[in-house]
Amino acid sequence: MTDTTPGGLENLLSEDRRFPPSSEFAAQANVHRDAYAWADADRPAFWAEQARDLLDWTTPFHEVLDWSGAPVARWFADGRLNAAYNAVDRHVEAGRGDRVALHFEGEGGDTRTITYADLQREVSKAANALAALGVETGDRVAIYLPLIPEAVFTMLACARIGAPHSVVFGGFSAEALYSRIVDAEAKLVVTADGGFRRGAASALKPAVDEALAKGESPVEHVLVVRRTGQDVAWTEGRDVWWSDTVDTASDEHTPVAVDAEHPLFILYTSGTTGKPKGIFHTTGGYLTQAAYTHKAVFDLKAETDVYWCTADIGWITGHTYVVYGPLVNGATQVIYEGTPDTPHRGRWWEIIEKYKVSILYTAPTAIRTCMKWGEEIPSKFDLSSLRVLGSVGEPINPEAWVWYRRVIGGDRTPIVDTWWQTETGAIMISPLPGVTTTKPGSAQVPLPGIAATVVDDDAHPVPDGSGGYLVVTEPWPSMLRGIWGDQERYADTYWSRFKDLYFAGDGAKKDDDGDIWLLGRVDDVMNVSGHRLSTTEIESALVSHPWVAEAAVVGATDETTGQAVVAFVILRGDAGGGEQSADEVQTTLRNHVAKEIGPIAKPRQILVVAELPKTRSGKIMRRLLRDVAEHRQVGDATTLADASVMDLIAQGLSAPG
Ligand code: WTA
Repeated sequence: MTDTTPGGLENLLSEDRRFPPSSEFAAQANVHRDAYAWADADRPAFWAEQARDLLDWTTPFHEVLDWSGAPVARWFADGRLNAAYNAVDRHVEAGRGDRVALHFEGEGGDTRTITYADLQREVSKAANALAALGVETGDRVAIYLPLIPEAVFTMLACARIGAPHSVVFGGFSAEALYSRIVDAEAKLVVTADGGFRRGAASALKPAVDEALAKGESPVEHVLVVRRTGQDVAWTEGRDVWWSDTVDTASDEHTPVAVDAEHPLFILYTSGTTGKPKGIFHTTGGYLTQAAYTHKAVFDLKAETDVYWCTADIGWITGHTYVVYGPLVNGATQVIYEGTPDTPHRGRWWEIIEKYKVSILYTAPTAIRTCMKWGEEIPSKFDLSSLRVLGSVGEPINPEAWVWYRRVIGGDRTPIVDTWWQTETGAIMISPLPGVTTTKPGSAQVPLPGIAATVVDDDAHPVPDGSGGYLVVTEPWPSMLRGIWGDQERYADTYWSRFKDLYFAGDGAKKDDDGDIWLLGRVDDVMNVSGHRLSTTEIESALVSHPWVAEAAVVGATDETTGQAVVAFVILRGDAGGGEQSADEVQTTLRNHVAKEIGPIAKPRQILVVAELPKTRSGKIMRRLLRDVAEHRQVGDATTLADASVMDLIAQGLSAPG
């Protein structure tokens, strides 16, 4: 098993700092200790109560959980509801239309304040425009937008007509966008001319044009938001401006009630093979767990809190904890388009001071980056409004956790380290801020209503104090309902390693108290800055370049990004690859990966080698390459077909030039 926690496993095991909730916080908390026993007594009944309590149903459900089609669960299946109605209209109907839903902060300092009443009008207009463009209930819509209010409007407009959205992160390439459009058979793409990134306008529309020029596509229209004002190429008949269609549409629209099991969205994520998986989620169960966890884990008080989750809507965190969870709960939140260091390294803290943010949810990478920049930067701002801090996406090392609490949280705020995945849809393992005595670096306990444990190779739960694999043992409301178009792959990927248990792909350990510590992926998935990347996908991108004969990619521990992509390549002497300088190889291949997948997948380092270490059956031993990439003594190499390969690699790397 790999230990990908920066700081190392020893560091974790000796961590004995403890942070109990203050009595004031505990007294006012939304959820108390009794929730665990209540949920354990009857898990489905617990979730049914949350579903009734937190959502409005047009047709109430009577069935709670149907697990007869395992591993595909059905929750609240005879009920009907609409996600956008729950996120928007009902708040307006209840007299809360004046409450701010979104404080939008553009990178350049432009702002927009959108109340729930505004949101209802904007989403209704967008829904009418989508319908006018031919989008019907059940059709798929691809969204390729920066983090601007129109992204939220579009997702909710899709939900309003029951058209599953497939958001593609704006940092993905035309190639990646094309394959996702085709796989989901999206009829419409919603994009922008560009967005602002690091002080400059960064184009998006050209990637859509390039994607749609690649071949046959199901796309009928491209709806374009004007954000940066940059020039765009235009395909008459296909392309339409947001300002011409949405802004002119009626602001009244009746939400379409759908079955609880109607698909709400598809979100592609990297797996262990080259092809990204279209994880799909349905409506009733997903919204129930999104709303419950958002309220319980962050202790949300919708009337008074100002919540900010820094994730982009291109990731699951942006779906569940920017769009659905907070809006269903009627929260006021901040959304910010840009990077943390534009125009200066105190931008985030300035935003917190400006809007009096009380709940912040971000990723360990961001925290480690801020640590590197120095605590004098956040110290210049008034962060006293903060009362809960969250972490997500990768293991958080104890030092970053403690820094986060001390410097950002003023030694006062509970920290919730939340473990979950695109597949789980919502938070699964996390402390409860008013209940749990927290331990820096540990996600600790499954939430009320969630059953998860750590098992050994034979699927037996490990005793306290031992490590193994993280599994979920009972179905949960926001679980994925499958892989779009490939249910066999769903069963194979998650349910075949251990019988009747959902295998998450993560290694974990139980400490002496039985608390869970996440140790990183045990499969060929890397986690770079909290973003999932597949080793195989990057390897395929590399070998698609004519210079490359073979490639192996590993995730090497990186102080800031958690893991970094390191590639080992064998060049093809016959195709020009052999004549290039090392610098040229680096630059060309890094750019090639950016073009095939996206800039986030660019290897930090590309090492040219003569051979790759393989077992006799031809499997690349990435473990040994990781040793090289992390400058460690190379581990046990006895199963290699050719034992001298590692020496060759080591010699080649230490040779000058
Ligand atoms: C990792 C992001 C440790 C884990 C919500 C998981 C974490 C993968 C944590 C899912 C955490 C997420 N501690 N590891 N608190 N949260 N992970 O699908 O390896 O982008 O399997 O979902 O991130 O990444 P995904």
